[in-house]
Amino acid sequence: MIPELGIELPVLLSAVVALLVLLKFHQWIRVWSNLPPMPVRPYPIVGHFPYLKGDIREKMLGFRKTTGDIFSMYFGGTLVVVLSSYEILTEALIKQADAFSARPLDGPIAVVGYTEGILGSTGQQWKENRTVTLSVFKKFGMGNNILAEKILEELKFYLDKLVSLKGEPSYIGNMTSCAISNVICNIVVGRRFEYDDSEYGKFIETSDRIMRMLGGGFLHQWYPKLKYLPGDFFKAKALIQVDKQFMDGMRNFIERVIREEQDGSNKDNLISEYLNEMRKRQETGKQTELSMKSLERVVFELMIAGIETTASGFLWFSLYMLHNPQVQRKIYEEIVSEIGTNRAPTLEDKSRLKYTNAAIAESLRLASLVPWAGFHRCSSETVIQGYTIPKDTMVLPSLDSVLLDEAIWGDPRNFRPERFLKDGELVIPQHFVSFSMGRRFCIGAKLAKLEMFLFVASVIQKFEILPAEPGSLPPRQYRMGATCPPQPFRLRLVERCV
Ligand code: HEM
Repeated sequence: MIPELGIELPVLLSAVVALLVLLKFHQWIRVWSNLPPMPVRPYPIVGHFPYLKGDIREKMLGFRKTTGDIFSMYFGGTLVVVLSSYEILTEALIKQADAFSARPLDGPIAVVGYTEGILGSTGQQWKENRTVTLSVFKKFGMGNNILAEKILEELKFYLDKLVSLKGEPSYIGNMTSCAISNVICNIVVGRRFEYDDSEYGKFIETSDRIMRMLGGGFLHQWYPKLKYLPGDFFKAKALIQVDKQFMDGMRNFIERVIREEQDGSNKDNLISEYLNEMRKRQETGKQTELSMKSLERVVFELMIAGIETTASGFLWFSLYMLHNPQVQRKIYEEIVSEIGTNRAPTLEDKSRLKYTNAAIAESLRLASLVPWAGFHRCSSETVIQGYTIPKDTMVLPSLDSVLLDEAIWGDPRNFRPERFLKDGELVIPQHFVSFSMGRRFCIGAKLAKLEMFLFVASVIQKFEILPAEPGSLPPRQYRMGATCPPQPFRLRLVERCV
């Protein structure tokens, strides 16, 4: 009994607990009754997945039309809020960047546990790894001449390989990935590999498999415990195995660089620079998130993110050239008038080739290679457009919804480089969000744009891109995954007579 109140202690405690439960319940109702709307009612366990069968990108764009620019979905049992317009993306990723820049703690990354490095990490781990990587890129001249030299070096091998095809119908996907990957390898590991090196071929193939399996549409990514079931119906074990295979490759790279560093034969690479920075911070006793484990992930991410995206960008460009020969002709004419045919294009030519740059931007826009930025996480309860997003909700920024928005582009499904030209000058509007927005903006954007320019200008200067069979054009269809390259197609690269 509490004499002052005249109440028994157990009764008082029960009342306090009841009040707390009621408050929590009230808070829960307040938040959950004010979520962004759902396009359709979800199924138990699988959520909205059954509605996404077929062309998932078109389905998601359709949900925007029926439900609005912000909507909720269930991926399995996980709530995901989809942001589907330029205005909403700006409000979340830029104006409310503090709340919308974290990465999820579960979902697609939970199966393999990508919480170190840059892409999947949050907080100090993300900040330090991103800053150190960007400063190494800067030191190597990201977007300037030193890097351009490395790309041009690789281009010589790539163009020789294309010449060896003798204008016959060919798939150029693998050799393009090998060339683009060699540029990253040069930066990260300090060396290149031969295109017919079988180990290297396997490495490229594995990176493609990981990208396909990380598409987010697999049930096991939302119920990671499925990996403990016998068999592998949900392909969870396959992803773990392929991830491990790739990580083992990264470890070999790192060990090799450490050996070469000791004998002084290889110092100018990202791994050495990272290790130096890590040792410096450790020696001064500074608290640091830089570690061997984080380095493995950073190397993994640069390889995966750097190969697939840029190589797919070039393949989409080639496919659009088959469908739009008049654009290819104009690019060639610009190259001839600004550079001629006696020397290779260089970085200095980039600002002069306006139409070529416009065609590259148009390829990246229309292909929308990364239809959704990586999953973000709302790190605190936040209100956006009057809706409440609970703490730790997964957020999916739809880049497709901006890059293919009729209200912005007028005729978004047409390939029309002129949309990026105004009075003969190249104008890239803020709605060009192929590399995302805000704090998670792609760290390789400058490198990718430079690679795309030098690859496109060098290939078009030397070859005409033609269909494998005259009059028959490959369809403009994508392969689903974390990135969306085109379905494999054949073409002919016929050397120009000059
Ligand atoms: C055409 C080529 C490329 C495209 C379209 C592209 C697109 C993107 C997109 C949309 C994101 C997601 C940002 C977000 O979650 O909001 C991203 C992140 C990232 N990209 Fe790229 N990317 C390209 C090339 C590259 C290259 C060449 C590299 C590496 C050298 C790279 C490394 C990364 C990394 C590490 C992140 C994670 C950033 C973070 O979470 O802080 N990307 N990229």
